[in-house]
Amino acid sequence: MNTLLTAAAALALSAALAPAHASLDLNKATELAKASGCYSCHAPDEKIVGPSFKSIANKYAGEADAAATLAQSVQNGSRGKWGRVPMPPHGSLSPADLKLLGGWVLTFKD
Ligand code: HEC
Repeated sequence: MNTLLTAAAALALSAALAPAHASLDLNKATELAKASGCYSCHAPDEKIVGPSFKSIANKYAGEADAAATLAQSVQNGSRGKWGRVPMPPHGSLSPADLKLLGGWVLTFKD
């Protein structure tokens, strides 16, 4: 078989098998989260004001629209899902940034 074709097929297959978030730019998402103040209330592994990113990811793992749900919570704020402290809305983030952050939070799943 043509080696070039084989390589192309292997590439296509690995792209198809990669987890959905593999296409996320994680460095960009981390920078965005830092710049947006997410880390003043959240940490990867421990609760600060808000729940850890890991607990959030574990809670929503397996939900079909998890990234979109989380993006919406970040945009509009969230209350009553984790405790008595609400998260304020982040209305100035673009839809693309919200989507990136929503998907990024899910990558903390263990
Ligand atoms: C002022 C503190 C604060 C800031 C800033 C903050 N959060 Fe939150 N966040 C919280 C709290 C508190 C909760 C839990 C809210 C609840 O109980 O519904 C939460 C919940 C969440 C959730 C889970 C929502 C759900 O539907 O279960 C996600 C995802 C999240 N935050 C991501 C972010 C991201 C991304 C940023 C930065 C853009 C951010 N947060 C900034 C305090 C904050």
